[in-house]
Amino acid sequence: MTPAAIERYDVVFVTSEMYPFSKTGGLADVLGALPPALARLGLRVGVISPMYGRMKAEEFDPRLVSSDCHVGYPWPPITAEIYQAEYYGVTVWFVARDEYFDRRHYYNTYKGDYFDNCERFTFFSRAAVEWLKRLGRVPGIIHANDWQSALVPTWIHYLRRTDPYWRECKTVMTIHNLAFQGRFSSRLFFDSGLPHEAWNMDGCEFWGDFNLLKSGIAFADAISTVSPSYADEILTPEFGCGLEGILNKRSDRLIGIINGADYDVWDPRRDKYLPSSYSTERMTGKMWCKKKLIREYYLSDMLENRPILGFIGRLRRQKGIDMLLDVLPEIMDLGVGLLVLGEGNLDYEARLLEMMEEYQGQLHVIIGYTEELAHRIQAGSDIFLMPSRYEPCGLTQMYALRYGTPPVATAVGGLRDTITAYPHPEATGFTFEKADSRLFFDAVHTAVERWEDREFWNDMVHRAMTRDFCWDRSAEQYQELYRSLGQATPGNFFK
Ligand code: ADP
Ligand code: GLC
Repeated sequence: MTPAAIERYDVVFVTSEMYPFSKTGGLADVLGALPPALARLGLRVGVISPMYGRMKAEEFDPRLVSSDCHVGYPWPPITAEIYQAEYYGVTVWFVARDEYFDRRHYYNTYKGDYFDNCERFTFFSRAAVEWLKRLGRVPGIIHANDWQSALVPTWIHYLRRTDPYWRECKTVMTIHNLAFQGRFSSRLFFDSGLPHEAWNMDGCEFWGDFNLLKSGIAFADAISTVSPSYADEILTPEFGCGLEGILNKRSDRLIGIINGADYDVWDPRRDKYLPSSYSTERMTGKMWCKKKLIREYYLSDMLENRPILGFIGRLRRQKGIDMLLDVLPEIMDLGVGLLVLGEGNLDYEARLLEMMEEYQGQLHVIIGYTEELAHRIQAGSDIFLMPSRYEPCGLTQMYALRYGTPPVATAVGGLRDTITAYPHPEATGFTFEKADSRLFFDAVHTAVERWEDREFWNDMVHRAMTRDFCWDRSAEQYQELYRSLGQATPGNFFK
């Protein structure tokens, strides 16, 4: 089967997650919002993503468009099924192969990463390239995201040499998190079907291992990351996770573009998950959201008149959850409430649950992943905690701003770029210079004190809620990046 209508796409994203079809974190939110924003600018946009067992794509009714997309990896050649759906002006293709993607989780279980992740995502990336060839007209840009699709720019780089079909195609590699690189045994490189010349320290090789993200950085025509500050930070040994060398070599191709927030999904004026909506003009709804949370999570009624702190995120060192645990008793001594929603490291989960026993009525911990509760904690809290060690962009602090829940965050990466920090007269939140539990506690303390000054606080909440991180602005910057590669002037380039 070949696709009926042969259309030319300005840009096709390749991603391992896309909201609302699949999500473990911010990557999904970005891929659920940026492609539609580019489509609104007039670009013809596609997305290729895996068809996971766990995903709920039924409501979008994906239809089978190919049952025999040949993928020359691993040998003997096997095939993928391709399903297609439309999502806000974007064509989404799902790569299905149940033995790889029909699993309970996407990348790992609590015991660790799936043993065949390299094979799974090499297969996925290769299937994406094969499908784009099957489409019959090459896209202007292929836009890869994180290690799971980082082999795509590598393949295109080599295919351009031998196959005229790919000559006009440019690639972009976006780094959402440099700490996850997809690092595997060298043996898997030699199974991947890539030319052996790619195996060198300016290519796929990293200290004797096969490094997928490094390969994407080495071979893409442009590299982007998700905030200007993080783009600077990753050039240093402190934040470069060992890839600062190749990033410095390619720094003329590196740009930081801040993510946006999807206000169709995250807006307290029309959030379907909230017990009561609210806006800067009518804030009583926020009080109601707070009351409901207090009741539902068995916090003391007295906390209605004290600040409720919220934390939502992966329970990993990146998010500074260990720092929160270190100073938790002192935070509790401030007479505040705290709600924690997250999952991740088993040790952190256990320590949090232990603390919950100790601080009944003041601390509630919810281990798990619940979209609805994430919205409700954003709305029902007064102060949002985000003591990240590093943060490429961070979306939760942007949501917190829109929900009138000023964040307390480390001044790193996207947090630095999106929060105007107290004591600035236009402050929207509180930051502390570096990941250190003492500095974190001091900032929480300041925030709680400032909360007590109602007039000051209301002004700050108002400023936070009216900050605009809409996707359209970021989408324009991506369009500019595509243009700089000589591609994607809608309605012009492909005529
Ligand atoms: P990261 O991608 O590093 O995890 P971001 O701040 O960019 O961090 O995005 C996190 C996204 O995942 C947000 O949409 C947030 O609401 C969501 N999220 C994180 N943990 C949970 C959880 N336990 N339950 C529900 N949503 C969560
Ligand atoms: C990653 C980063 C996060 C960023 C998200 C989307 O998961 O950790 O900071 O917001 O990707 O780009």
